[in-house]
Amino acid sequence: MSSLALMRWLEGTPERYDAGMRALTFGRVRRLHEAVANAAVRAPGDAVLEIGCGTGSVTALLLARGARVTAFDHAPEMLEQARARFATGATVDWVERTASEIDALPRAAFQSVVLSLCLSDMSRSERAFVLREAALRLAPGGRVVAADEVRPRGPLRRVLQRLWRIPQAALAWLLVGAVSSPIPDLIGELEAAGLAVRESDEWLFGTLALAVAEKSE
Ligand SMILES: C[S@@+](CC[C@H](N)C(=O)[O-])C[C@H]1O[C@@H](n2cnc3c(N)ncnc32)[C@H](O)[C@@H]1O
Repeated sequence: MSSLALMRWLEGTPERYDAGMRALTFGRVRRLHEAVANAAVRAPGDAVLEIGCGTGSVTALLLARGARVTAFDHAPEMLEQARARFATGATVDWVERTASEIDALPRAAFQSVVLSLCLSDMSRSERAFVLREAALRLAPGGRVVAADEVRPRGPLRRVLQRLWRIPQAALAWLLVGAVSSPIPDLIGELEAAGLAVRESDEWLFGTLALAVAEKSE
């Protein structure tokens, strides 16, 4: 099968895209998604803004916890797959927009802003803008929940990540049609946006990380 045909096949259903993500993360993506949803929804009815919803894997977990979700993605084919996954009447507002258009949303309107595996698709300046604007969208006591591929701490882990990077980038292109760059300093970027990290976790030798951050006092 040519790589183009393989990509078309993988893009055909959310299950195939999701299978690609599971393969790339050795199955850890499920745990990461669960941790994101647990951190993002503290009570049924919470309003959650999800940036880069993709095929809706995290959206499904947010809905299962009773959230009302506004889900952004700039890729119409991803949104189409995500929409098809849910019954009509699900409490999701699907929006085809780029993350930087977050500034069109009302301020202080969300209990959480979720960014799962999409900050690493953005440039550093876009991330800085989006994180600053995300902080402004939080209702009092709200939190930004960011999970992504990061540069691990420690020289040995960094060498291992560089060695794994070339086959991983090729696989990522084949399996999910995109290549991301690990974020050098996720916590530093959240702090620079005026957020204070309250919880964090990591998987896969520190190459996948989760950070839960609130507005600094
Ligand atoms: C790797 S997928 C992750 C999907 C999902 N959040 C998850 O955790 O499985 C990244 C998604 O973010 C979207 N995305 C990346 N950069 C974006 C941007 N600047 N604005 C809006 N969506 C973006 C992509 O279209 C893609 O659907």
